[in-house]
Amino acid sequence: MTSRPTPVVIDCDTGVDDALALLFAVRHPGLDLRAVGCIAGNTDVDQVVRNTLTVLEQAGAPAVPVARGAERPLLEPLRTAHHVHGRDGMGDLGLPAPARRPTEVDAVMLMHHAILDSPRPVTLIPTAPLTNIALLLRTHPEVTRNIERIVFMGGAVATGNATPVAEFNVWHDPEAAAILLTAGVPTTMYGLDVFQRVLVPEADVRRLRECGEPGARLAGRLLSHRDPATGNDVPYGGLGDAGAVCSVADPAGLTTHRLPVEVDLAPGPARGQTVVDRRPRPGEAELHGETREQPLVDVALDIDVERYVKLFLAIVEGLDPPWT
Ligand code: RIB
Ligand code: CA
Repeated sequence: MTSRPTPVVIDCDTGVDDALALLFAVRHPGLDLRAVGCIAGNTDVDQVVRNTLTVLEQAGAPAVPVARGAERPLLEPLRTAHHVHGRDGMGDLGLPAPARRPTEVDAVMLMHHAILDSPRPVTLIPTAPLTNIALLLRTHPEVTRNIERIVFMGGAVATGNATPVAEFNVWHDPEAAAILLTAGVPTTMYGLDVFQRVLVPEADVRRLRECGEPGARLAGRLLSHRDPATGNDVPYGGLGDAGAVCSVADPAGLTTHRLPVEVDLAPGPARGQTVVDRRPRPGEAELHGETREQPLVDVALDIDVERYVKLFLAIVEGLDPPWT
């Protein structure tokens, strides 16, 4: 690999698949992980900090600064996903407590410094509810001048998971998601439509589990995690949030369309929905003068599953990226 690595900052709620995202990010030679923010989501924020430090330690990662962020959304109460990610929020693997410690500064301050201190514009990758990102954008709007792009895991074009139409990260803090989308920064929405498709085959998961190298073995154990609520019929091996990081390292595997996107903030059954306008031409509402300003977002509509599985496995197993 000859080009300089892309500076990235991750904000996560580790989380089984956030852990996979971190493992991939610290091992990919084309990514320079400069800081990690932690936010309540899959579990409470203190457990997220602990899980994040544990993963980085187990992966033998360099000393990446990790900071604690918001402990609840801007308006909503905290609604964790222990039923999916286990009691400790990371699959209850019984991993040892980390020796590493979080930074003294909070996640907003850490990300502020990490972004402005970067010699080149940063790609910001939130894989969690967007509360920290909203607080960052409102407290330090000047960071946008050194953000190349925001690639966030969240939202859905078609079907939700937290509700029939809302995806968990956006539903958890819809106001924060709206702040991100209207920040005027080039943004990619890596939503459920692609997120749910990237599955590592069972034979590969088994091989990782039996690996002697701790980081690769941890990836195998994480990929073996099954959502206890769904049982054995649903396939395991989902890359989840790690797919969003794959798309930063290797954008050629993701098909996006630039479309108007708005978060539904009204109370009721659609709250937290990302309303994506895929109509080929203006509809009756516009013809009757009902125009509204909507941010344009690069929405992920298709994904090369095989490509990202191959990339993830190569990187986590310590090989060179298959495409450079
Ligand atoms: O909606 C999918 C959830 O699982 C999100 O929190 C995502 O980031 C993953 O952790
Ligand atoms: Ca997550």
